[in-house]
Amino acid sequence: MKPKILIARAIFPEVIAKLAQHFDVTSNQEDVLWTQPEMIEQLAGKQGVFTTGGERIDATLLAQCPQLKICANMAVGYNNFDLDAMSAAGVLATNAPDVLTETTADLGFALLMATARRMAEGEHFLRAGLWTRWRYDMFIGADVHGATLGILGMGRIGQAIARRGAHGFGMKVIYHNRTRLDATTEAECKAAYVGKEELLRTADHLVLVLPYSASSHHAIGAAELAQMKPTATLVNVARGGIVDDAALALALRNRVIAAAGLDVFEGEPKVHPDLLTVPNVVLTPHIGSATLPTRLAMANLAADNLIGYLVHQKPLTPLNPAILAP
Ligand code: GLV
Repeated sequence: MKPKILIARAIFPEVIAKLAQHFDVTSNQEDVLWTQPEMIEQLAGKQGVFTTGGERIDATLLAQCPQLKICANMAVGYNNFDLDAMSAAGVLATNAPDVLTETTADLGFALLMATARRMAEGEHFLRAGLWTRWRYDMFIGADVHGATLGILGMGRIGQAIARRGAHGFGMKVIYHNRTRLDATTEAECKAAYVGKEELLRTADHLVLVLPYSASSHHAIGAAELAQMKPTATLVNVARGGIVDDAALALALRNRVIAAAGLDVFEGEPKVHPDLLTVPNVVLTPHIGSATLPTRLAMANLAADNLIGYLVHQKPLTPLNPAILAP
């Protein structure tokens, strides 16, 4: 008998077909957003679950799903998983790293450029029929080339953004991270390690690429924004909750900083109403990894983790590998 798995959200049909070769699959192609009790009900008798990053896997759920062996996230971020609770319950967690690094860095850089050069504001102005003449001071923005690029969180995606800035745009790159990178990686990224305060004070463009956790909650709030240059831009392609969105909206309105580009939001898909009314912010709906080859690669990696673990006892990208120890 094939093991039973649940696919918690709509995904590519070809990935469902691959999983169906190995498993008795229950899928959710209607893309219903289940409450946790509904998810628990759906998980009855399932050994594996394919999650997409928004489904909370915690002690409450695990206590009611004793047969569950693996949760495979189709996302590199895994703040929807309580990893300690999963390890305690002997449930393997996997994520989808690497395959989305360059695509997400592209979006980060695109947001940086759109923000610095006020592209969304300009487009709204044009669409509203307000463009009647050229003016010397119309939509004056900030240069990207040659500017100082600050990166908070220098993992794979942070490094890929640093390479774009340093090698493509001649930017001076500074970064802050929990741990300093080795000298070879710093040289490849042409990036210099600085303290968080110096990063905030000296970056012309600050990009956030750190994981979300209790310790990074509101890492950028009113106090941090006040330390930034009034001409600076801020870009968040990491997770909502790292920025205090209410404080950011106020800072944008009061021109404490010049502009922001946001792909992620506290409590998304809801967006803080004040962010919707300030002009100097570019907003995208969490599309950092949204290209067809990358989303397919992410879905395939999550599927291969389910097959790897439940069929061959060899998951590809485990987050709590200690539970695999004999
Ligand atoms: C997207 O946000 C991801 O974590 O993969």
